[in-house]
Amino acid sequence: MDRSSPQTVLLALLSVLLIGGCQGGNILGVFTSISPSHLIIHMSMAKVLAENGHNVTVVTVLKPSVNHKDITVVQIPMTEEEHKIMSATMSHLASKDNGNMVISMFRSMGRMQFMMDKMRDIMKDQRVKDLYENKNNKFDLVLLGYFLNTYQLGIAHKLKAPIVIAASMPPNELFKSIVGNPSAASFVPAMNMAVERGEVMTFVQRIQNFFTNIAMEVFIAIIKNYNANSYKEIYGDDPNMPAFEELGKNVSLAFFTSHALSEGPIRPNVPAVIEVGGIQITDKPNPLPKQLAEFLSNADNGAILLSLGSNVKSSHLKSDTNNKIFNVLSKLKQRIIWKWEDLDNTPGKSDNILYSKWLPQDDILAHPNITLFITHAGKGGITEAQYHGKPMLALPIFADQPSNALRMVKYGFGLSLSLLTLEEEPFKESLTELLENPHYTHKVKTFSALYRDRPISARESVLFWCEYVMRHHGAPHLQSPLLKMNYIEANNLDVLALLVVIIIVFIYISKYVISAIIRKLKEKPKNTNKIKKH
Ligand SMILES: *[C@@H]1O[C@H](CO)[C@@H](O)[C@H](O)[C@H]1NC(C)=O
Ligand SMILES: *[C@@H]1O[C@H](CO)[C@@H](O)[C@H](O)[C@H]1NC(C)=O
Ligand SMILES: *[C@@H]1O[C@H](CO)[C@@H](O)[C@H](O)[C@H]1NC(C)=O
Repeated sequence: MDRSSPQTVLLALLSVLLIGGCQGGNILGVFTSISPSHLIIHMSMAKVLAENGHNVTVVTVLKPSVNHKDITVVQIPMTEEEHKIMSATMSHLASKDNGNMVISMFRSMGRMQFMMDKMRDIMKDQRVKDLYENKNNKFDLVLLGYFLNTYQLGIAHKLKAPIVIAASMPPNELFKSIVGNPSAASFVPAMNMAVERGEVMTFVQRIQNFFTNIAMEVFIAIIKNYNANSYKEIYGDDPNMPAFEELGKNVSLAFFTSHALSEGPIRPNVPAVIEVGGIQITDKPNPLPKQLAEFLSNADNGAILLSLGSNVKSSHLKSDTNNKIFNVLSKLKQRIIWKWEDLDNTPGKSDNILYSKWLPQDDILAHPNITLFITHAGKGGITEAQYHGKPMLALPIFADQPSNALRMVKYGFGLSLSLLTLEEEPFKESLTELLENPHYTHKVKTFSALYRDRPISARESVLFWCEYVMRHHGAPHLQSPLLKMNYIEANNLDVLALLVVIIIVFIYISKYVISAIIRKLKEKPKNTNKIKKH
């Protein structure tokens, strides 16, 4: 059936030029984290790019809730078996006290293994390999959702495309070998330290911070070993692939979900660090589903949103805890929207409580009648509440949640209670304090104004920098020299050693010269003496 006339060929050529022209890039997003909150961040980046004329293909495990005609999703879902393990992992973590970030980090490591194995196996899946084995695929940029998965950087080398990292956290030690940000343990508090803005760490805090950084280094070293093995497993058969140690040296830049200007900490960042905190927040809230909108518009005494996040389902908690929460909330005059999965099995019915399985959290928090957010203190939720100026009661569970809560309380945006030891009385007291004392709302609203005040929005920033990297085919000129230096060079220890040697040599020479002079001086009088005697 050869019916191609010159006109149709021309037309086809023209449409290819128009659709796939230089304006729109072909972008591959590798978003394999099993944490829904990470996927929300990553998909909001994909969406900005798609909305601005780029063709985005994303590899995910979870099903993204974002749809766009220019986003093609290659989903490699978890098996039934994996779903079960995942669920068991989460209830296990939710049953332990995870107050100390470092201890909780090490404790959850064995459990995290499962997630990491899944992320590794995805890269061996034929559907992912097709992306680079198919010679017709040409990508202008790889956007990698980064969480302890350095070996996944390999896919950019396979595709010969520049790579940008999308982290769902602020810059920290984990990224030292990728963006070459300087360490600054003496004045940059680690995530688990709550230091007021403008305050300096005390001597004891600096000791604590010093050792936290060392613990992080140990953690990174263990993960690095795992990553090196995964890298060998996935790409080991290709002699053209760079050594594992070289991978981090070819990252163009990295996005972080923080905003140091308002949140702190004030720290030095290299130019490849781009902060896009709040990227998941839409500039204008979407209209709420009818049921929610009605429930909130009739909230004469205000309303509270309760969500313990997407990792831990309410059913993972002791039913006792849920009952205690219900007993207190059902007696309030405020209305409550409670994120709850199993609608056939709720902790109880009450006129002021609306259970819902799925919630547009950001849009609800934007609603003027919401006066309080009860949260598990995930970074995403806290960010949204801070953006909309809503005070919080944190009930943290694990990972970075306890430290997020600690910082939120330190800033005066709310209070925090341990979910594991939650009792009705303190829970009620905290709610009363938060609902009646305007101090918290005032603090968080002041912050909100600062958080929103930026030269360009987080979304504009993602778009600009991705296009920048595509325009210049990578950004090696942004690379931090620290990436190519070892510890001794980076800290000028060799220069200091040279100085010490010079000083020592100088001291020896001086000593030699001085004693020689003294000897000479002593000899002369002797000689004259001798002459006199003779
Ligand atoms: C967009 O990406 C999809 C999936 O990778 C691909 O099939 C399609 O041809 C691309 N479209 C253009 C215009 O490049
Ligand atoms: C680094 O990335 C660029 C594309 O940005 C590529 O041309 C170059 O070959 C890469 N270098 C290595 C060592 O892989
Ligand atoms: C908030 O609640 C008040 C009192 O019920 C109501 O009059 C108002 O319309 C609500 N606001 C919105 C935006 O729904």
